[in-house]
Amino acid sequence: MNKLTNAAPAVRVRGLTRRFGDRAVIKELDLDLGAGEFVALIGRSGCGKSTLLRILADLDQEISGSVEVPVKRAVAFQAPRLMPWKRVWRNVALALPGRPDRRRAQAALAEVGLSHRAEVWPKVLSGGEAQRASLARALVREPDLMLLDEPFGALDALTRAKAQQLVKELWQRHRCAILLVTHDVEEALLLADRVLVMDEGVIRHELSVDLPHPRAVEDAGFNAMRGRLLGWLGVRHAGAPPAAAGAPRHWLPDSRNRPALDGAPSLVPSFWRFHHVP
Ligand SMILES: Nc1ncnc2c1ncn2[C@@H]1O[C@H](COP(=O)(O)OP(=O)(O)OP(=O)(O)O)[C@@H](O)[C@H]1O
Ligand SMILES: [Mg+2]
Repeated sequence: MNKLTNAAPAVRVRGLTRRFGDRAVIKELDLDLGAGEFVALIGRSGCGKSTLLRILADLDQEISGSVEVPVKRAVAFQAPRLMPWKRVWRNVALALPGRPDRRRAQAALAEVGLSHRAEVWPKVLSGGEAQRASLARALVREPDLMLLDEPFGALDALTRAKAQQLVKELWQRHRCAILLVTHDVEEALLLADRVLVMDEGVIRHELSVDLPHPRAVEDAGFNAMRGRLLGWLGVRHAGAPPAAAGAPRHWLPDSRNRPALDGAPSLVPSFWRFHHVP
């Protein structure tokens, strides 16, 4: 793997293949991320998203093809993965080389609104707080690339919306490139400059999200993009006509309401998560 030293692009992948046994999970995949670009990656369960992220994080080197990423990169997963035997600030400081740097850990915790939790053990944190601590650990290195694998997947609707808002603010402040894996089409459209749809080990579709921030799920442009993405995923949404009798049901709406990110709470049923029902 080459480590990019110049500012742009943030990621350049060519002809990437990853096999598990005889099976190629990633097949001759190409990918580019610009410096400071926020890209969301969606796709069916098992299509290879986490595999790709692990490769970009350099956690998996059993590949063919070329991968270029910035030296300073950080990764956060769905589970916060905090060390239970280290206090929160020490968990954050773990991402830094050398002696634990309390000042920088504290600054990163302040950015995610967790200054007051620096001294506690991870087990006393709520799910949302633990995820914010995980984000602080990713941020503390001031990375040029953040790799986020469903970081909000385990959070309740309100905490999730707040965490999304936080990531957006952090990105606007730091302007590092972000690759966010998500199952939530709305989350992708609320946050990203570009949405990639992965299918059978390649990037099959790409959508530029040229909507101004703050974005609203009720917006006509937003809705059109949502429909397009869901179409690419082979998923129908609430506004679409019913499937023919006997046709497979492709999605299960999450009935929870969620607050809009940048305004009053919305009562639009949301979470366009997709699940394949055989
Ligand atoms: N270490 C491994 N050994 C064998 N197969 C693996 C390994 N890691 C992943 N796979 C397989 O590779 C495929 C892609 O897995 P991956 O975790 O990348 O999917 P994903 O797109 O992230 O799915 P999800 O949305 O469910 O998280 C899956 O079929 C998985 O079983
Ligand atoms: Mg995954």
